[in-house]
Amino acid sequence: VSSNSWIRVALTPAQADGDPADCAIVIDALRATTTIAALMDAGARSVTAVMDIDFARERARKTGAVLAGEVHGLAPDGFDLGNSPVEASEADIRSRDVVLFTTNGTRALCSARAAVIVAGSLTNLSAVVSLAAGHDRIAIVCAGNHGGTRFALEDFAVAGAYVSALLEGRERDINDEASVALRAVLGSEASVTSAAATLMRESDHASTTRALGLGQDVDFACQADISKALPVVVASGDGWVRLEDVQGARGAMTLRS
Ligand code: MLT
Repeated sequence: VSSNSWIRVALTPAQADGDPADCAIVIDALRATTTIAALMDAGARSVTAVMDIDFARERARKTGAVLAGEVHGLAPDGFDLGNSPVEASEADIRSRDVVLFTTNGTRALCSARAAVIVAGSLTNLSAVVSLAAGHDRIAIVCAGNHGGTRFALEDFAVAGAYVSALLEGRERDINDEASVALRAVLGSEASVTSAAATLMRESDHASTTRALGLGQDVDFACQADISKALPVVVASGDGWVRLEDVQGARGAMTLRS
């Protein structure tokens, strides 16, 4: 295996430092990256993920964007939407720009470094894999919990499903974290994605989310491949990244080649 072809899983964003990746897949399965895919599917023109809540409010006010996100799991005062994939998928946001602030996921997206940065979840796994598979050096960055300082089982489980899919048809070096993430989803169930969903349901963050009355979001996030959204970072600045769904653009690229 060429050492130029690898997959490295980072258990938290801080562990993603090191050799630059060609493609970074940022995962916050409960719930930010699942919500981003759902916002794209509902027709959002863009999602700007931001690190700071005051900046989020100001940017939404100045640009007329929909303001979405959470603090302690719930939409803060003045927000139009929570960080909820169920709410996002039912929201009237066609052609709107969305500003999203969350505790872990938007922070992880803002700190990711790679030529191509994409928001991944179980719901858009195959779409994201089809984009990432063409790259040699792939970083899978788990957003984690507590502001990205702690391990999150749900992100790790989904990372395992990504590692499994990315190893199909191509040998790559994988780091220890990728190896154990892969083992966590292999063998125990009918499919890698159902194993990942089971682990997600067992995670601490799933319990916290259910305790807030948001169990439907957990169920939503546990569905594999219900979305074709490809939320890719197209612009960035200090404390923010703008994501757009490039699935249409990819289709056009395929037609041209
Ligand atoms: C986050 O980005 O911090 C998470 O998605 C938290 C949540 O479940 O809202």
